[in-house]
Amino acid sequence: MATIRDIGILTILTVLFSLASLGRSEDLPCAARDVGIEGRSIVCVCNATYCDTISREEPAPGTYVMYTSSNAGQRFEKSKGVIETEPIDDGSDDSYFDSKDNLYSDYGSYSDEFEETIWNRVTVRIYTIIRNQIIEGFGGSVTDAAAINWRKLSDGAQTNFINTYFSAEGIEYNMIRVPIAGADFSTHAYTYNELPWNDAALSNFSLSEEDLFLKLPMIKLSQAAAPAEVKITASTWSPPIWMKTNERITGFGQLKPEFYQTYADYHVRFIEEYSKAEVRIWAITTTNEPINGIVPLVNFNSLGWTPSQLGRWVANNLGPTIRNSSFPETLILAVDDQRYLLPIWLKGMEREDPRSIEYIDGIAIHYYGNFVPASILSQLQQRYPNKILLSTEACEGPMPWDLLKVEIGSWRRARRYITSIMQDLNNFVVGWIDWNLCLDPEGGPNWAENFVDAPVLVFAEDDEFVKQPMFYAMGHFSKFIPRGSRIIFVERRSLATLENVAVLTPQGNIVIVIQNRNRNERSVRIRVDRTRFIQFRMEPESVKTIEINQN
Ligand SMILES: *[C@@H]1O[C@H](CO)[C@@H](O)[C@H](O)[C@H]1NC(C)=O
Ligand SMILES: *[C@@H]1O[C@H](CO)[C@@H](O)[C@H](O)[C@H]1NC(C)=O
Ligand SMILES: *[C@@H]1O[C@H](CO)[C@@H](O)[C@H](O)[C@H]1NC(C)=O
Repeated sequence: MATIRDIGILTILTVLFSLASLGRSEDLPCAARDVGIEGRSIVCVCNATYCDTISREEPAPGTYVMYTSSNAGQRFEKSKGVIETEPIDDGSDDSYFDSKDNLYSDYGSYSDEFEETIWNRVTVRIYTIIRNQIIEGFGGSVTDAAAINWRKLSDGAQTNFINTYFSAEGIEYNMIRVPIAGADFSTHAYTYNELPWNDAALSNFSLSEEDLFLKLPMIKLSQAAAPAEVKITASTWSPPIWMKTNERITGFGQLKPEFYQTYADYHVRFIEEYSKAEVRIWAITTTNEPINGIVPLVNFNSLGWTPSQLGRWVANNLGPTIRNSSFPETLILAVDDQRYLLPIWLKGMEREDPRSIEYIDGIAIHYYGNFVPASILSQLQQRYPNKILLSTEACEGPMPWDLLKVEIGSWRRARRYITSIMQDLNNFVVGWIDWNLCLDPEGGPNWAENFVDAPVLVFAEDDEFVKQPMFYAMGHFSKFIPRGSRIIFVERRSLATLENVAVLTPQGNIVIVIQNRNRNERSVRIRVDRTRFIQFRMEPESVKTIEINQN
């Protein structure tokens, strides 16, 4: 029996314990702002002195830590639980091959605490033994537009911006894509070495003011803030116009054959200049969206490549030049265009010259117009098993039918990101790089007025930036799926299901990201092995990342 004195000591211990856990990095909550538009979610406001933070908490053995964001306004809301054990094992759960027979087998053991139908109960089973691709990472793009907006903030707000994207208090991005010279998200169209004309030796190659004062500083601060290596992928939109058949930055134009080697050298010169600035280029793509310069519609920086032209250039020029340069380990990622175009381009390259396929390390994928299912990526992985698949560009709002370029506070756009990332990861994609890290409230600047949305919008005159639901959508993956994680198999065990993807982290924890797109809640059971499971309720229109320590 506890005496008064014991209770006193207990109280003191409890107080001390809570103080200790308070001191241990309490997360700063989202400073939520209602955007005042019917049907929209909230945004989280950051300024020079405040920005919400999120620390990843290590689950103790036999427990899990869960992070929830939702249309209703939760943002990385943390909760914890223990792995439960089901004493009865009917033996029906030991193989994923006979899953059809087991579809209903879990229902007998559900508590009927809630009125549940087969439509709101979801059961999945995780198999850590079936391990697919190794994750490279997640990130966003340092375009001129992103860097210009970021630079308009005060020093304190700039620091908060970098930390919220890259640091251990933020969503821990470990990938960046950067345009080689200008893209449409620049204030003007430019390239390196525009003069003298026909300068095949690239004697006047020089980085732009944008590189020196905007992009390089932003990249270097991001790398300094990040706990992991931030890997850089670079892409050219258009070369100097004297290399192009139409001698214009936009429109229907391909590379003049006499400059095939010069354009390969142009890439090496860029890698050299960034290397002098102490930024290592991890990968280059074979030019942004080659289709843009072979359809006469596009109003921004482009260079067209037919599949056979691209095959010829990679096999004869880009491949040998990179491998023979001082940066031979630079990855070459082919195509860098929409999902539905990839098989046509790769087949055409292969037919033109099989060495083009030998030279490439991977395939770069864009997000727009996903008319064909993501399973096309698994087919590519089977056809080219030694190549990585990397998603290199995504944004909401670019299509002619997107009436709103920026849809502030949109949960719908976050939901589409989450669905797409899950589908890509479940089809052998190793990483996912978003487009502009931030834009202004109109979705620019963009010299071609090709405005789109971004996860962060900068309101420079108020010295603040707002983090949209898309920011948290990215964070549910980037923060909790470290580089080196392996995608593992998740089997559906109920009629109802929810979109999900699961990984095994390098330290051996299971991380599952699960999305409920429905307007009502779901009861979810995740079985981690034959007898053990976790069970929770999933809020309407929500996403959860759950890190499970199964030891
Ligand atoms: C910065 O944000 C915090 C939290 O929302 C707020 O209390 C503070 O007033 C803001 N500072 C400025 C200068 O607006
Ligand atoms: C080299 O490029 C700069 C612009 O970066 C230009 O002003 C200059 O005229 C060029 N030099 C020659 C010799 O063409
Ligand atoms: C690589 O460089 C060496 C020396 O610079 C040259 O002799 C060789 O032909 C080059 N190989 C290719 C494939 O370009």
